[in-house]
Amino acid sequence: MEGVTNRDEILKALEVVIDPELHRSIVELDMVRSIDISPNGVVDVTVSLTTPGCPIKGHFQATVADAASALEGVTHVNVYFDVLTDTQKATLQQKLGRASLPEGALAQVANVICVGSGKGGVGKSTLTANIAAALAGEGKRVGILDADVWGYSIPRMYGLGATRPPVSAERKIIPLEAHGVKVMSIGFFVEEDAAVVWRGPMLHKALTQFLQDVAWGALDYLLVDLPPGTGDVSMTLAQLLPQAQFLIVTTPQQTAQKVARRSAHMAQKVSLEICGVVENMSSFTTPSGERFTIFGEGGGQELADELDVPLLGKVPLTMPLREQADGGLPLVIEDPDDPAAQAIRHLARGLLAMTPLELPVLEPVEASPSGRTGSHQPDESRKPVGMSLPMA
Ligand SMILES: Nc1ncnc2c1ncn2[C@@H]1O[C@H](COP(=O)(O)OP(=O)(O)OP(=O)(O)O)[C@@H](O)[C@H]1O
Ligand SMILES: [Mg+2]
Repeated sequence: MEGVTNRDEILKALEVVIDPELHRSIVELDMVRSIDISPNGVVDVTVSLTTPGCPIKGHFQATVADAASALEGVTHVNVYFDVLTDTQKATLQQKLGRASLPEGALAQVANVICVGSGKGGVGKSTLTANIAAALAGEGKRVGILDADVWGYSIPRMYGLGATRPPVSAERKIIPLEAHGVKVMSIGFFVEEDAAVVWRGPMLHKALTQFLQDVAWGALDYLLVDLPPGTGDVSMTLAQLLPQAQFLIVTTPQQTAQKVARRSAHMAQKVSLEICGVVENMSSFTTPSGERFTIFGEGGGQELADELDVPLLGKVPLTMPLREQADGGLPLVIEDPDDPAAQAIRHLARGLLAMTPLELPVLEPVEASPSGRTGSHQPDESRKPVGMSLPMA
């Protein structure tokens, strides 16, 4: 068969065929299902598509034929198509970065709950801090991942300063612990008030590390305090944690609800399950018992109805909730009878009721014998442990 090319050569030639949607070569994506070469130089290539009605079939048809015909000895190229199996699609998704945490990274975490909102300042961090403390108060093993890398506030709310978390013998970052809750925040690694400038890939890497290189251990709940808005962080986390649930915080007013709805749509788009809505700053009751609905009324319920998820709680405005957030001790611990604290404890029990504790987020696997090495040396510089985080 002198002069007729071989399979490897054809595969090499097909590396130039890029999937216009996935931006990678069809060879790298394992989409070349089969290559058959006849002695007369006719080559049959079968390409697997993600969907049968793939609109870019024509593109593949032409580029595959061109690439293969350019080889010596090839007289004709037939391009055939079939569709990836579910298993192949799952492998492809993994290649593309979805669910790319190493297996077992969060194997002992039963529930991941991302606390988000469309808008800033609606009380996500305050609620995260207090719900976590309330769950710990119910005897649960709880962690908080402060994913607000620009405006981190959990360290302050938990009275944790700029202490650098220690690194274990296995080179895992050990979360700091306060009020029975394990906490990890970018705030532990940067100077106070330092402006952290993040670019997409860096952000992705830092969050990945917060999930995979932190010794979270066995947790019933990992609460993730999201930054405001529907940007990069949420997308990144959704990619890393497709099993996470999303808890939406809103205020009673119409506009807040609208923005919250946007974040709900984002959650749905990235396939995060929305577990419920919390209405914060619901009303204000004076010491004499007079009740004011400062930010209006009913927004939380409306949003919950619209999304067909439960309204898990209505947390009133109270002075102590704000003061305690600033004082480093969650209100549910300091004054569990405060109306806001009561509402949050109620909310936490609602979460307990709806989240099963047996299901692991990822299948547990045996610790990999090779381990991960070299990425986080406990050096003494001001650099974050093991992270190439850009800091101003
Ligand atoms: N129910 C409440 N009663 C009184 N003050 C509250 C209440 N909820 C939140 N606050 C106060 O509102 C401010 C904003 O809250 P918080 O920082 O938790 O919001 P956030 O949604 O996390 O904000 P960001 O979007 O900036 O991260 C804080 O000063 C907090 O103490
Ligand atoms: Mg916040």
